[in-house]
Amino acid sequence: MTRQAIVAANWKMNGDSALVDNIVSGLANVKLSSHVDVVICPSFAYLSELNQKIKAAKLNEAIHVGSQNLSEHESGAFTGEISTAMLQDLAINYVIVGHSERRSIYKETSLQVAKKVNAALDAGLTPILCIGESEVERVTGETEAVLSAQIQPVIDEVGIDKFIDVVIAYEPVWAIGTGKTASSAMAQETHKFIRQFLAQQSELVSDKVPLLYGGSVNAANCEELFAQTDIDGGLIGGASLKAEQFKIICSAAKGK
Ligand code: PGA
Repeated sequence: MTRQAIVAANWKMNGDSALVDNIVSGLANVKLSSHVDVVICPSFAYLSELNQKIKAAKLNEAIHVGSQNLSEHESGAFTGEISTAMLQDLAINYVIVGHSERRSIYKETSLQVAKKVNAALDAGLTPILCIGESEVERVTGETEAVLSAQIQPVIDEVGIDKFIDVVIAYEPVWAIGTGKTASSAMAQETHKFIRQFLAQQSELVSDKVPLLYGGSVNAANCEELFAQTDIDGGLIGGASLKAEQFKIICSAAKGK
């Protein structure tokens, strides 16, 4: 069995129609290995435009559009939120859940993140579940405990069998937007821990779930990171806003 590789772009609160055009034309002749999916996650405002332009330009069918967030609620009085039904309506099939900025700035708890993952899976969307430790937690040796405490509530909520359809993005918080990438050896060691943690509950899930690395990935370091045994692609912030860089990163990913 080949495990799918994924390169996901997280535009955060950046970008405009010009960037949509730029990325669509930049990916026009991108070379992707088989077993690679590319997922571009713009702000809600550009989901539809990006999806339509990708289709109109007849880009590689492995290029998808994803949301940066979703509500755990079905509908109702939740100002500023977006539901799974709305994402389905826009033909969106991926969603980032529990990014560290959502956890720290918007105080999303691991339980809430678990409910969001469940809502995504129920709607047939692929959740990209973000986990990661802070610098203090890394230095004090708490990384594994923190990651376990972020993953386990999701498994408890959705059940290990459904977890097979989840994608995990490991993003050490201290490496996000800072230019400080985890060394490929450190990233591999942590990914291996995550894979073993999953294997304790299901070998099948552990073999199948793509584990992405995120945190200052760029065109220069992606190849070495993606070559690691347990790294199946990346979640890319800053470098995903530059078409040339992002294209190189997409081409570096390979299924394992
Ligand atoms: P970065 O962001 O690549 O700019 O570090 C990654 C992320 O936050 O997903």
